[in-house]
Amino acid sequence: MNNNQILKNTNAKLLDEFNASVMFDKELYAQDIKGSIAHSKMLALQDIITVDDQEKIEAGLLQVKAEIESGKFEWKIEHEDVHMAIENRLTEIIGDAGGRLHTARSRNDQVATDFALYVQDKSIVIKDKLKMLIETLVNIASKHTETLIPGMTHLQHAQPINFGFHLLAYANMFKRDFERFESSYQRNNNCPLGSAALAGTPHNIDRFKTSELLGFDSPTACALDTSSNRDFALEILFNISTSMMHISRISEELILWSSYEFGFVKMSDEYATTSSIMPQKKNPDVPELLRGKTGRVYGNLVSLLTVMKGLPLAYNKDTQEDKEGVFDSVKTMEISLDILCAVMDTLIINADVMEKACKVGHLSATDLADYLVQKANIPFRTAYYITKDVVSLANKLGKDMSELTIEELRTANDEVANIDKEIISYLDLRNSMNARTSFGGTSTQRTKEQIKSFQDWLK
Ligand code: ARG
Repeated sequence: MNNNQILKNTNAKLLDEFNASVMFDKELYAQDIKGSIAHSKMLALQDIITVDDQEKIEAGLLQVKAEIESGKFEWKIEHEDVHMAIENRLTEIIGDAGGRLHTARSRNDQVATDFALYVQDKSIVIKDKLKMLIETLVNIASKHTETLIPGMTHLQHAQPINFGFHLLAYANMFKRDFERFESSYQRNNNCPLGSAALAGTPHNIDRFKTSELLGFDSPTACALDTSSNRDFALEILFNISTSMMHISRISEELILWSSYEFGFVKMSDEYATTSSIMPQKKNPDVPELLRGKTGRVYGNLVSLLTVMKGLPLAYNKDTQEDKEGVFDSVKTMEISLDILCAVMDTLIINADVMEKACKVGHLSATDLADYLVQKANIPFRTAYYITKDVVSLANKLGKDMSELTIEELRTANDEVANIDKEIISYLDLRNSMNARTSFGGTSTQRTKEQIKSFQDWLK
């Protein structure tokens, strides 16, 4: 071979590899076979193929499936994609009847169907895992409705809350995530198959039958839209991104809380790793990875949004780029939910340290202001400045506001010089937490109500 021939051969091989998706879209083999069996059944019911051929096709496809699952199937670049690979093998096994399977469909509606089935299947798996995580959080929360922890804004001590309430904030996030997967599932539960290449088909097909056989609610409405619609994939990427953002936020708190400075929690040894150089160290690698993996799922979302943004109707090969990011995000989401669940389940909670931390930063300052508003009808803004003096006094005495005696407090300024001694109980941290009885508030009672409604929802 001369140089030109070598170059030509290399180019041909490179092109095949460049064009092929089989090495990653083989992930869709089960959906592809399921879709083909349903399609063949519909074709037979409509007398487009014979029952005999349909039976051969179905048996052949099940054999291909068994070969794939036992690792015997040979995936080859020259088959280009999962659809051609399976159809080729089917025809090898059953002969001519295999060639009738592709009647009244195109790879365009075929891949859209496989991918939609995949996304729908995975939404259910993810929803189950989200539920497991919510259950774990609610369980821990139910044991800590009286455990005080400093509630923060701007990462500064703000008001005392209970640790159960803190965890319920995350349970609420994950419940919204659950509902988001659920509503995407409902919205996208339509069957693309039978849209054919872009415009439908002259064959007398029954798309409602195919849709029913595959468990969709109905066929998609418009063939032209269907063959290049990837909204369902974008939705799962967005849903995963939002959920990973929540996972990342709780991970960030776990990292902070397990630091020496906080010491609120300790991660079980299985989930903390050691340093290769500093023998004394325990690192929170697991929540750090959960936080880090959030970046890549965002990337997958932006990547597909970008792929789709300039596509003219209808199918374009660009959309072959839709799959790897979704597979990656789905896997990342699944493992992240499992791991976070296990981390939470084995978390050691240092309630004493949390409570002690509440005694720093005058967490009950707002309670004094609220007291003055309620008992003395002072405008809140005025009460705010009066309270500020008490904060300064406490700082001067080197005490937390919750530790002031009534005699000390009364010296802060003229406005509080005669304040009733009952104020002291209002400044107590646990009383402060329990005073927040408004709906959705942190009081132990309200927290228990929230837990109850989560438990009802989980049933
Ligand atoms: N492998 C292709 C994809 O993932 C399947 C559809 C191919 N259709 C076509 N007209 N080339 O998008």
